[in-house]
Amino acid sequence: MSLIKTARLGLRNWKPSDLEPFIKMNMDAAVMAHFPKTFSKQETTAGYHRFREHFEEHGFCYFAVELLENQKFIGFIGLMHQDYESHFTPCVDMGWRLRKEHWGKGYATEGAKACLTYAFDKIGLEEVVAVAPKLNVNSERVMQKIGMVKQGEFKHPKIEVSSPLELCSLYKMST
Ligand SMILES: CC(C)(COP(=O)(O)OP(=O)(O)OC[C@H]1O[C@@H](n2cnc3c(N)ncnc32)[C@H](O)[C@@H]1OP(=O)(O)O)[C@@H](O)C(=O)NCCC(=O)NCCS
Repeated sequence: MSLIKTARLGLRNWKPSDLEPFIKMNMDAAVMAHFPKTFSKQETTAGYHRFREHFEEHGFCYFAVELLENQKFIGFIGLMHQDYESHFTPCVDMGWRLRKEHWGKGYATEGAKACLTYAFDKIGLEEVVAVAPKLNVNSERVMQKIGMVKQGEFKHPKIEVSSPLELCSLYKMST
């Protein structure tokens, strides 16, 4: 059952049948081009459980996304609490990752817009942030298209110093 529906997408808690395509997506070097590495089956399985636990505790997470037309799993878009060391944390972060064959169709923007509305109107958050390595132009464009505003740049504490991925853009939207 989808918690959020857009014209083309359903956003919902994760279910066991998502795990296999999620593992495949996280092993795809193109999808993970702006991360330090691809994820192993064990790492993705741990992420799957973390998202489900976050959903149980807070009623939201990086939601599994399915196409309404065929219920196919295409990736995730959603919201998670983040508490890594930085000047803007703790915060609620919006994130997205889609299987490559589903890029370029406007799905990330469509789902992220709906998540923002959900964050403010249903969860009652006052602020949502989004971050991406400066090199990840596609992700930053989603932030801009949904109306988030750039706050500046920062060095991500979870990314190795001197990695080209370390320098990230920070975007925010407030009520
Ligand atoms: C980041 C990511 C989710 C963006 O996906 P995307 O498909 O490029 O993003 P959008 O949903 O905004 O769609 C982009 C294009 O679809 C096109 N499009 C096609 N049909 C469309 C439609 N019906 N409505 C809107 N746009 C449509 C648009 O032209 C748009 O391109 P534009 O912004 O140049 O106009 C994707 O690249 C991804 O999964 N990357 C790997 C994981 C990742 O890096 N995540 C972010 C970590 S910070």
